[in-house]
Amino acid sequence: MDKLIITGGTQLSGELRIAGAKNAALPILAATLLSEEAVSVGNIPHLHDITTTMQLLGQMGVRLTIDEKMNIRVDSNETNKFEAPYELVKTMRASILVLGPLLTRFGQAHVSLPGGCAIGTRPVDIHLDSLIKMGAEIKVDAGYIHAKASRLKGCRLVLDKVTVTGTENLLMTAVLAKGTTVIENAAKEPEVSDLAHFLNAMGAKISGIDSDVLVIEGVEKIGKKDLHYTIVPDRIETGTYLVAAAITRGQIKVKDTRPDTLDAVLDKLKEAGADITTGEDWINLDMHGKQPKAVNIRTAPYPAFPTDMQAQFTAMNSVADGVGTITETVFENRFMHVQEMQRMGANIQLESNTAICKGQQQLIGAPVMATDLRASASLVLAGLVAKGETLVDRIYHIDRGYDHIEEKLAQLGATIKRIAR
Ligand code: EPU
Repeated sequence: MDKLIITGGTQLSGELRIAGAKNAALPILAATLLSEEAVSVGNIPHLHDITTTMQLLGQMGVRLTIDEKMNIRVDSNETNKFEAPYELVKTMRASILVLGPLLTRFGQAHVSLPGGCAIGTRPVDIHLDSLIKMGAEIKVDAGYIHAKASRLKGCRLVLDKVTVTGTENLLMTAVLAKGTTVIENAAKEPEVSDLAHFLNAMGAKISGIDSDVLVIEGVEKIGKKDLHYTIVPDRIETGTYLVAAAITRGQIKVKDTRPDTLDAVLDKLKEAGADITTGEDWINLDMHGKQPKAVNIRTAPYPAFPTDMQAQFTAMNSVADGVGTITETVFENRFMHVQEMQRMGANIQLESNTAICKGQQQLIGAPVMATDLRASASLVLAGLVAKGETLVDRIYHIDRGYDHIEEKLAQLGATIKRIAR
């Protein structure tokens, strides 16, 4: 199993290109199942979850080709198996995203039920209840969701909770349903909007994009000849590198990104003392060598502060000037990084869903590991400022969501290497 060894203490500086967003690429690849024409998707990040998605589609009979620039061409016209097997779903929960497209285009879907997860119970009840309202017959048996339907019917769906993949599944389903579907309390994450733009580019009729009420006029089929679609840049990857620079009191320019999708994160970095300038597709952050100031954070659905950036800010608060609180409201168990950071000397107290961090002058390198993607990334960030060597184990979590992390950090001056042992 690969590990990362980081020797802390270097102030990061330099420029970096941001990859396409994992959480937009996954639903968009699932949405290619809806298209009657082959479609090409670009700015795909080089990640494990992408490989898993390609395997998932491939075993259904979908034809995929990938070129050296990571453009993926997908032709789903020969799909002949309508299943997401347990072996793939257990490694990637986002496999649930094929449920809606398979059901609405092919009339059936058999998707392994994603189990619990390191960050919370993460049920899919909202996906299933809403599909039933649209006319689907759903049975859960032996760990699998079995869904069937003739043409689904549009209706009004008021989601109990803001759910990102839930909104995406229903959006994809509604595109081919009969009549109008209205999704209220929809997620507004930029990745949901990117999926909606992709669906419209294929001929869907979605309005209300970027708002929490999505209106979808169902059509009989979608697909546009020679369509090439470019995935939105990854705002969480962007935020993670900005924190890497801030925590090391350094300077960074991130390019090929979308500052307009990061308002809440940039505000908190400014509050921490970062000097930030932005252009249309770049962000420059400069700490001018200063220690960051502790900040208070409360996670919530977009446009509020993202849960996927919470662990990284916990790392920053652990070496910041002052006391900062991090309150997690989206997932019930997303503080696994805290115990590992404590082993590095961080002073963090957990009280229910809040982590109270008292900034320390110095963290000390230690062997650490985490059980989810963003928590693992936050340990790498802690390692960048810790004294001595930090060994981050189980980095397959990081490879699921960060494109070439050690190369990108090394490019900024970090002392980091991957070892296979
Ligand atoms: N929820 C339900 N019932 C449902 C669906 C969700 O109760 O049917 C609850 C969840 O348990 C959670 C809350 O609603 O408490 C929000 O969960 P959501 O459904 O929005 O999460 P998700 O769609 O499973 C996506 C991202 C996550 C990100 C969350 C929140 C993808 C592939 N995953 O997950 O990304 O944290 O939205 O923004 O888009 C990551 O990239 O590291 C990651 C975990």
